[in-house]
Amino acid sequence: MNKATRKAVIAGNWKMNKTPSETTALINEMKPLVAGADCDVVLCVPYIDIPAAVAAAEGSNIKIGAENVHFKASGAYTGEVSVDMLKESGVEYVVIGHSERRQYFGETDQTVNLRTLAAVNGGLKAIVCVGETLEQRELGYTETLLKYQTKMALTNVTAEQLKNVIIAYEPVWAIGTGVTATADQADEGNGYVRAAIAEAYGAEVAETVTVQYGGSMNAGNAAELVSKVNVDGGLIGGASLKAADFSVIVKAASEG
Ligand code: PGA
Repeated sequence: MNKATRKAVIAGNWKMNKTPSETTALINEMKPLVAGADCDVVLCVPYIDIPAAVAAAEGSNIKIGAENVHFKASGAYTGEVSVDMLKESGVEYVVIGHSERRQYFGETDQTVNLRTLAAVNGGLKAIVCVGETLEQRELGYTETLLKYQTKMALTNVTAEQLKNVIIAYEPVWAIGTGVTATADQADEGNGYVRAAIAEAYGAEVAETVTVQYGGSMNAGNAAELVSKVNVDGGLIGGASLKAADFSVIVKAASEG
């Protein structure tokens, strides 16, 4: 299997944006623009927007994701949301270990692993984020760090469960900054992620895993990024809040 047979996935990550009514309006605007795409199209939205998103996306090719999930099934965890709650609400995907969660909310490689296991054990598709800071890149640690984060996130995930895991390589210095990795840097980072999967599961399995790039991917640069052999789509922040821009990215991935 190679890029030609791996399904590209374009996932929007809305972060802390859009109210429920704005969610309905934006998805209604997007639906006709992304209909018939030759890639998977996912929108990961704030918890409170999930019912509106699921209702608006019904009957379309847009799948809905959450931006996080707790690893316990239930209990005294104020403010947290479980896999079962998400599934019953119509959620199919969940972003795990986004660098903003690692940076601002104390997320660690261990909790990323626990959330990943909870997601795949519970039947959600996990979009697991890894990525180096600018300082780590400048010190020459990019490959070591990406491989470490990837392997840590996937600890105890079976090869069978890996079918429900997507890894998103998101260099922290490129997120929300307008500074995009060059297509070669994205390809190289995604290649390190794939190499880590190959070391843990074998090369054949690694060739089947969707590895996205994320970090200021937009309507102008998406085509070049997704043309790279290791880039199987993208995790899109800012540009997923604009229907026209998002649909250009979806089109690029459909053709890439
Ligand atoms: P950005 O965010 O596209 O706004 O850089 C990407 C992400 O954080 O997933």
